Amino acid sequence: MNVAPRFGTGHRVLVTGGAGFVPSHLVDRLVERGCTVVALDNFVTGSKENVAHLLDTPTFTMVEADISDGLPAHPTLAERFDAILHMASPASPTDFEKLPVEILRVGSVGTLHLLDRALADGARFLMASTSEAYGDPKEHPQRETYWGNVNPIGVRAVYDEAKRFSEAATMAYHRSRGLDAAIVRIFNTYGPRMRPDDGRAIPTFISQALRGEPITVHGTGNQTRSICYVDDLVRGILLLLDSTETGPINCGTEHEMSMRQLAETIVSLCASSSEVTYITRNADDPEMRRPDLTLARELLGYEPTVSPEEGLRRTIAYFRSRLG
Ligand SMILES: NC(=O)c1ccc[n+]([C@@H]2O[C@H](COP(=O)([O-])OP(=O)(O)OC[C@H]3O[C@@H](n4cnc5c(N)ncnc54)[C@H](O)[C@@H]3O)[C@@H](O)[C@H]2O)c1
Repeated sequence: MNVAPRFGTGHRVLVTGGAGFVPSHLVDRLVERGCTVVALDNFVTGSKENVAHLLDTPTFTMVEADISDGLPAHPTLAERFDAILHMASPASPTDFEKLPVEILRVGSVGTLHLLDRALADGARFLMASTSEAYGDPKEHPQRETYWGNVNPIGVRAVYDEAKRFSEAATMAYHRSRGLDAAIVRIFNTYGPRMRPDDGRAIPTFISQALRGEPITVHGTGNQTRSICYVDDLVRGILLLLDSTETGPINCGTEHEMSMRQLAETIVSLCASSSEVTYITRNADDPEMRRPDLTLARELLGYEPTVSPEEGLRRTIAYFRSRLG
């Protein structure tokens, strides 16, 4: 299955959360293709630094705004968009506790504002959903047909349910109003531009290993995740954007490993003397995560190519350069 590029030179693309970790990589690829890209971000978890290299590029504009309040009056937002990618949302477990209402708002009213705009523009709309839509899954690996196992009042619910609402809203606009829409369910992704202190396992373990501090694994460390290097994910998202598929479609890798294995691998790749220690596990932390990638392969021709060792090496090099 070959998906031909649908968005390139002359197309205007809006990326919400554009200064964040994953979205800033997407912005890079879209600018490289020749798209005129507007990144909209309130910098709640993102950083201007992630797009600083683009600020002099005439086809790139950074707009500071909170999408939960709607699209602001700005000359570059007045023109029609060909595609809108809703990537904005805090996404780390520490954010779930620190920014619960903000997460609920960006994944509900924020999504509705963008769906209305995409409909008005006749734009393709891509919703960044998550493997968290499956909650603590009872099916393994997770196929898109699985409805999930989410605690609707738990600490993670603000994120899981907001994304599930966004999926429902996207499907409603697609079915009832004919919106050209797509939903990607993103599994754990890592790479350069993650914040060292964002509370997710990989940046935390790498920062601890590079500083020679104890590695703090939650619980027994037997819980698993399937980790995806950001370049692979971004390629998958662009394939979905270029296609006419609606999804939802899983995107990630089948490189499933326990948190204990991950910690040990990172210590070894960092050549660190850090000891692996175990601390209290977060409530409702899923036991296992692995995407079934059949749909992504069959419908998009998606295939992740970066091994965990290679991806972790690149990420460690990035963190090392920043820790000085
Ligand atoms: N990285 C992953 O493993 C992963 C997994 C599943 C889903 N996702 C989804 O991918 C997207 C990007 O995640 P990330 O890991 O790059 O996180 P990130 O926090 O680095 O990026 C999110 C960006 O959205 C911005 N933002 C948040 N609320 C906003 C608002 N109301 N208005 C404008 N901007 C706002 C933040 O400032 C940040 O720049 C998120 O939607 C996330 O839910 C990521």
